[in-house]
Amino acid sequence: MEIKRYFVIGNPINHSLSPKLQNYWIKQHNINAVYEKLKLEENEIESFIDKIRNQKIDGCNITVPFKKKVIPFLDKLSFEAEKTQSVNTIINNGGNLIGHNTDIYGFEKAIKSLNFDMKGKKVLILGAGGVVPSIIFALKKMQASQIILTNRTKKKAEDIKKQFYDLVFIDWGQVTDFDVVINATSLGLNNEFINLDFSNSGDKKLFYDVIYNPEETNFLKEGKKLGNQTENGKLMFIFQAFEAFKLWHGIEPKISSGTLEILNND
Ligand code: ATR
Repeated sequence: MEIKRYFVIGNPINHSLSPKLQNYWIKQHNINAVYEKLKLEENEIESFIDKIRNQKIDGCNITVPFKKKVIPFLDKLSFEAEKTQSVNTIINNGGNLIGHNTDIYGFEKAIKSLNFDMKGKKVLILGAGGVVPSIIFALKKMQASQIILTNRTKKKAEDIKKQFYDLVFIDWGQVTDFDVVINATSLGLNNEFINLDFSNSGDKKLFYDVIYNPEETNFLKEGKKLGNQTENGKLMFIFQAFEAFKLWHGIEPKISSGTLEILNND
């Protein structure tokens, strides 16, 4: 049988650890497949997706900034992808290209594996980028009581409100009372600080960062110093990949200490 080909597309794409993880599982399960990263320009998306249609490629993941841009070229969206207008996984189901969103599952599983009960919690989200609609969807599913959004560019936060009507906004620079604060900005990827003051926010909250490389951002360091529980985005990343793997290969890959280790810095 011919080797199956999978990709993660985005721009930039160099930082993506998806190939490392997917190829590790592919090997572990003796699947005849290969998973690569591919940097695309926006005008190349259509022809790339045509290749999935023509079975030259068997499926793909999508990362920043194309999670919404792929949608016009697909035949169908899963319920979650439709609700969030965000697709991170494409499968070819007998000629029908279906867009899935496994980021939601990833976030939900990551929170559950902390044994953290999100029900009734007040959540402050920093940022309004590509992954935020998925996080909001998952938070609502877990029955968070209030979701507060803050983003440097107000327009982007307002666009998200069109999808989720009962959000609260605060201006960038302000901090409200919260039980959980989530960094969904890109600040921290290169050791930046987030210019927000959490020193009056109390302690024993959950500081969650979507970033997992570096393992501990300045945001998490600060949270820890102030006496809070902290968690990075590594499990979210692993669980979104787990669900994509299952969609393509029909197998649940193993998540072991080895899986966690291969994502550590080389
Ligand atoms: P995209 O915006 O293309 O979806 P992303 O990496 O998913 O990209 O999102 C980046 C997030 O980090 C955005 O919320 C961005 O804020 P803006 O909407 O104002 O661009 C936020 N971000 C990046 N650099 C920032 C900075 N220096 N200060 C504050 N927020 C920043």
